[in-house]
Amino acid sequence: MKLNHLFDWHLEDDAIWEQQLERTQYHYHNPSRIAPSSIQRNLGLLFFNSSLRTRTSMEVAASRLGAHTSVIIPGSGVWGMEWEDGRIMDGESVEHIREGIGVLSRYYDALGVRLFATGTDYALDQNETRFKKIIEAATVPVINLESALYHPCQALADAATIRHHFNGEATGRRFVLSWAWHPNALAQAVPNSALLMASRLGMDITIARPSGFELESEIMNLAQTYSSKYGLSITETDHQDVACEGADIIYAKAWGSKLSYENPDAEKALRDQHKHWQIRDHHLGSAAFMHCLPVRRGVVVEDAVLDSPQAIHLLQAEFRLYAQIAILERAWNLI
Ligand code: CP
Repeated sequence: MKLNHLFDWHLEDDAIWEQQLERTQYHYHNPSRIAPSSIQRNLGLLFFNSSLRTRTSMEVAASRLGAHTSVIIPGSGVWGMEWEDGRIMDGESVEHIREGIGVLSRYYDALGVRLFATGTDYALDQNETRFKKIIEAATVPVINLESALYHPCQALADAATIRHHFNGEATGRRFVLSWAWHPNALAQAVPNSALLMASRLGMDITIARPSGFELESEIMNLAQTYSSKYGLSITETDHQDVACEGADIIYAKAWGSKLSYENPDAEKALRDQHKHWQIRDHHLGSAAFMHCLPVRRGVVVEDAVLDSPQAIHLLQAEFRLYAQIAILERAWNLI
């Protein structure tokens, strides 16, 4: 039987994407219409990395469907996992991912997995090698709760937030994805997913980022393929102020340069030349402000922006709940 994994939306056709988007909006408008149906399902949530929103919204989403969740944190009261095949496991790891995921598949009806980029092994991260190993070992649906390259739960919630904000008319609206400075070289999963989401909605996209912080060409090409269906071209610029002029949405996110893999000191030196890249009050105009959260106030964005009525980041976070109810419904063939 084909399993309804959710690795990333670009692997799903438009009908599934639209259905999931509509279902997310349905749950937003009908929060009490889900009758806990005692569906007798169990959801295992593996967090190899920290979370606030994803963990709690998944727990509540499952609960709304009448399902039970467990949070599993490998290495914290749970055996640390070995990833390499063929390794003589005489070191720290006592459980191989093959057995770990194989066993959990026998207890749970779906597994949500958060597994960030290593930040040190470029090929491993770009190929999503570890996440693919989990999918290969699983015999139940696996839901990506943010991997090296993608954050599909965030993308679905973001798309629903934008549609809601524009009363359904997001196509052609100006979407600015703006890089922001951060003390750490963060992964590109969220900007990748935000870009793919906005292009799939047919938004008119500008990416503002300093030179050296380009997103990967595979992601850019994929996004351009979506944009081309609407006759649009994605613009890239290193002028944050100019990019934000006339924006309908300003989506801020910090991410690191590819240089961090080969020379982290050089990447930090490059990144630190751009500490002034912060979304400020004067950027807003009539735009709505979005951020996936968590956000560093006074670093990525000025307090005045986050505290303005134009900031919709909390609504964005709220939509995570409705998006993940929709995702679980699909994983479990409830709709
Ligand atoms: N946006 C998001 O995924 O938040 P958490 O890291 O808190 O889960």
